[in-house]
Amino acid sequence: MINITDDHNTNYALRQDERESNARTYAKTFRFAIKSAQGMMITDVNNKTYYDCLSCAGALPLGHSNPQVIDALNVAIKDNVPFQTLDMMTPLKDEFTEAIFSSLPTKFASRARIQFCSPCGTDAVEAAIKLTRIATQKSDILAFRGAYHGMGQGAMSMMGNRQNKQQLPNLMGNTQFLPYPHKYRCPFGVGGDLTDEISINYIRSLIEDQEGGVTPAGMIAELVQGEGGVIPASDRWTQEIRKITHDHSIPLLIDEVQTGWGRTGKLYSFEHSNITPDVIILSKAIGGGLPLAVIIYDKDLDVWKTGAHTGTFRGNTLAMATGLATLKVIQQEELLNNSVLMGKRLKQHLSEIQKECFLIGDIRGRGLMLGVEIIDHKKGTDILGNFLQSGEIARKIKLECFDKGLIIETGGRDGGVLRFLPPLNINSEQVDSISAIFRDACLQVSRTYYA
Ligand SMILES: Cc1ncc(COP(=O)(O)O)c(C=O)c1O
Repeated sequence: MINITDDHNTNYALRQDERESNARTYAKTFRFAIKSAQGMMITDVNNKTYYDCLSCAGALPLGHSNPQVIDALNVAIKDNVPFQTLDMMTPLKDEFTEAIFSSLPTKFASRARIQFCSPCGTDAVEAAIKLTRIATQKSDILAFRGAYHGMGQGAMSMMGNRQNKQQLPNLMGNTQFLPYPHKYRCPFGVGGDLTDEISINYIRSLIEDQEGGVTPAGMIAELVQGEGGVIPASDRWTQEIRKITHDHSIPLLIDEVQTGWGRTGKLYSFEHSNITPDVIILSKAIGGGLPLAVIIYDKDLDVWKTGAHTGTFRGNTLAMATGLATLKVIQQEELLNNSVLMGKRLKQHLSEIQKECFLIGDIRGRGLMLGVEIIDHKKGTDILGNFLQSGEIARKIKLECFDKGLIIETGGRDGGVLRFLPPLNINSEQVDSISAIFRDACLQVSRTYYA
């Protein structure tokens, strides 16, 4: 490598700028090159260390290089397991399937079928939509504003973010967007619990009104909108949308790509509200860091024909080994409990920081999927009187955190929400340390922004 500056990180970043696509994202913010990573710590090529609260957008539930996950990988390699098998059977695949079915509520698992998809969340979303459209012989999909379901052209058509969609004139049609309830930035201008009530009534009337204009093939929802700005749905709202969709035989597809396997404090986010979805979409955490994606669905929907959703890389055996090991660790080390406890601890710290730093408008989320909405007092207010969010200030805080050795990402409208997605096995000292860095960064940015 030709060194352009004395800083190794900058040299790598500049070389990346020269050769990689303009569509790259994280790399434009985090201008470093990662040398190694262990647990929740990342070391760059200058030997600087960082707390990783991005966890590869949630795909590393146990952090980096977890010893049990590495053991599982080593055993699989030693045993000469095939790296790929299309969708043919292996003992490891059977064991993975058994484990994932056992991890699901019995009522759902007893009627479930699994489709292994090409290994990313997007492909699982595409499969789920195809499945329900074929089964119902209908086209319309009910999706939510603020949703993120991936970058395939079907998945994108169901996501809120207009900026990305505007580049593409002809996405899949037939998506009907519904307002997602939001206590702090209520789409109905009321806030609090009323946001749920109005949303429920609106959805019911849309579906029951003969002049409602849609005949849905399914409804797709995240129960904590992640990329949309960490917006949790209440249990009551979830139960009601389940009831409405059930009463009208509309398949309910829960996108657990980001929430699945413990992120929200339950193995699956729908378990908070005790509902049974018709389709569960899973990826990220289930591969324990290696790529894997599945949909699991009610057998009544299983009417698509042979080859309806093929793909070369659907038999990623090593990811099944690492996924299995990850699930075992989550269960044996009681990481659901840890997700709840550490999430609470982090939220408490964030609330304390909010008292000192008026840039923080809202703190929300579930388990270890937390978001901090950054507001700008120089801008106006929304209909509820809350100051508007500020992607500009959020980005400054993110960069300040990075400088101080903490990796967090932004999301939500205008990129105004700072997102915490630490590994599920984070401990209290680590929570305290990342909170201290975050506090310093917030206070520093507020001092300079309002100087
Ligand atoms: C809820 C949700 N669905 C789908 C996806 C798409 O997954 P992938 O990026 O693996 O295609 C994501 C990715 O962040 C997601 O958060």
